[in-house]
Amino acid sequence: MNKNINPNKIAVIGAGGVGATTAYALMVQGVGSEIVLIDLNKDKAEGEAMDLRHGASFVNPVDIYAGDYEDLADAKLIIITAGAAQKPGETRLDLIKKNTGIFKKIIPSITKYNKDGILLVVTNPVDILTYLTYKISDFPANRVLGSGTVLDSSRFRSLLSKNCGVAASNVHGYIIGEHGDSEVPVWSLTNIAGTQIDNYCPICKKDCKDNHFKDISDQVKNAGYEIIDKKGSTFYAVALAVSRIARAILRDENAVLTVSSLMKGYYGVEDMSLSLPTLINSNGIKNVLELPLSEAEEKAFKDSAQHLKDNITELDI
Ligand code: 2OP
Repeated sequence: MNKNINPNKIAVIGAGGVGATTAYALMVQGVGSEIVLIDLNKDKAEGEAMDLRHGASFVNPVDIYAGDYEDLADAKLIIITAGAAQKPGETRLDLIKKNTGIFKKIIPSITKYNKDGILLVVTNPVDILTYLTYKISDFPANRVLGSGTVLDSSRFRSLLSKNCGVAASNVHGYIIGEHGDSEVPVWSLTNIAGTQIDNYCPICKKDCKDNHFKDISDQVKNAGYEIIDKKGSTFYAVALAVSRIARAILRDENAVLTVSSLMKGYYGVEDMSLSLPTLINSNGIKNVLELPLSEAEEKAFKDSAQHLKDNITELDI
């Protein structure tokens, strides 16, 4: 590792709802011992950092402060949450133009000071911005990832947990593809206690109707819209998802998480970033897992990649 990098330092760019809540999740969960918050609005970053710092006596020792791009120089992990957020009635892809413009300014400001850290994109549309970040940062593909469908996979597991009456940590399932409308639930690999979900039903004895599982994956897909309609934005669960990814990196865990990363021919898809179950460690992406999907799931995954590609054709990427 580059000796100038502090393996426990995390930078969060963007101190809005997602960025500030991410810093809070990192602090409460003891992920990282130095956290710098960077925002165009310096007062906002300073205010959030002060508010967080005042909780210091309740958590593991951590240095949290507001800083500038120069402070990125020794960061192991740079989390990018800056950009316009989805409003009621908007899709994530509606944000492409605005946030592409913002990223074309932010990424060179980051790489000016840091060439050895890991870039974790959270801003939407996360897959397209992860791809754009890979293209313009000149970082190797293993050090550019997006939060992707880590949040959706958690929503999926939490809904199944509630439905089946089993702790979410014992429900295993993945949402792959776009973090958005074309995402794909991998029902064929979804299991509880090592038992495929359909086979678990006789044990659960809930007598779910035929369309029950479809309802669950629809709820996952629409959760972001529903929450934005009700409270204007989403930030708690995404912040926990980001903190989970950060922990896997800082602790060199080899954890399986559905992050978004550059496709290199997986299921025939390349030259786009989207989510598949992926081993995450201190190098970022260790390995993308090509698990045995059903034919329909594989097709839906390819369609999701195509849907993203169709949406970037007019962008200068
Ligand atoms: C979410 O799914 C809006 O992408 C954000 O919560």
